Amino acid sequence: MSGKKYCLQASYLLAVIILAVCIQLLCACGKEETDRAEMICVGVAVYNQSDTFLGEMVSCLKESLHDYEEKGVELTMVLRDAAGSQRKQDEQVKELIDAGCNVLCVNLVDRSTPSDIIDLARENDIPLIFFNREPVAEDIMQWDRIYYVGAPAEQSGIMQGELAAALIQSKPQIDRNKDGKIQYVVLEGEPGHQDAIIRTENAVEALRSSGIELEKLSSGIANWSRAQAENRMLQMISQHQHKIELVLANNDDMALGAIDAYDKLNYTETALPVFFGIDGTDTGMEAVIEKKLSGTVYNDKEGQAEAIARLIAALVLGERMEDIKFENERYIYVPYRKVELGTGDF
Ligand code: BGC
Ligand code: CA
Repeated sequence: MSGKKYCLQASYLLAVIILAVCIQLLCACGKEETDRAEMICVGVAVYNQSDTFLGEMVSCLKESLHDYEEKGVELTMVLRDAAGSQRKQDEQVKELIDAGCNVLCVNLVDRSTPSDIIDLARENDIPLIFFNREPVAEDIMQWDRIYYVGAPAEQSGIMQGELAAALIQSKPQIDRNKDGKIQYVVLEGEPGHQDAIIRTENAVEALRSSGIELEKLSSGIANWSRAQAENRMLQMISQHQHKIELVLANNDDMALGAIDAYDKLNYTETALPVFFGIDGTDTGMEAVIEKKLSGTVYNDKEGQAEAIARLIAALVLGERMEDIKFENERYIYVPYRKVELGTGDF
């Protein structure tokens, strides 16, 4: 073979290789283009939209998703309310999938039975983000496209206890009967919810470790509800009358229900206990400003909604997954903040 002929053949081969590489690169770019332009259809299933915190959280989620739309992402959100029925929610998730949703955000009714929803998502290969009502770790680990976005329950309890301890230390008159102990009652959220027992235990522990002597008079389950809390509180007042000095409620709505009970009975301000909630809902914040509620702990719904929206973009568009900080690979916990009058927090 002559040198010239060899050289020609080699440059021909090189040209073919370069052309093949270019075609491949072009295809890859084209593919990225189509992925990037994919429409996002978010299916959101909530346990009960009449829950105050959840209602506000859904509004925040709409806003965060709307921000992505403004950045040019084509996005729709379909919302379903299970009104407290897990069977209904399972059906609704099926409908969301049939409607073409390509990512699911689920606020479980019963956080101990997510398996049907997990199976549906997995069979259809649709990523699944649980929020606010946390399934156990074994369920999250059932499939590698399951995530959880929420807040660290212990922290909210500790903060509530610290807020109460600081107030009690600065206002000795809270110990109305001057026995050196604070007589308290607890209004508890739904049994089995990760935020109920853990908040109570940590609030009481934080008070004790701040050196406050406590005497528990009573506790009542009010399932996060203002109306149920009012009833429970009326019962506890009839049992203990003026003895109650502190009311610890697992959320703001129940703290507000307790205040409603005292309002109904026309208690004068000096005969009232002090009340603490958790959430920082709109009405909760107003009650802090009006000094009816001594303090609350902000359950950062904007932060959680933003985290969900960012995760959705990462899962569907492949956008900046590496920037998201996970705990235990697939959990995002957004921290709480203390809210009391004078912290400048609102
Ligand atoms: C909130 C409650 C709410 C519950 C619903 C909790 O994190 O503090 O106000 O009712 O979630 O799951
Ligand atoms: Ca006392």
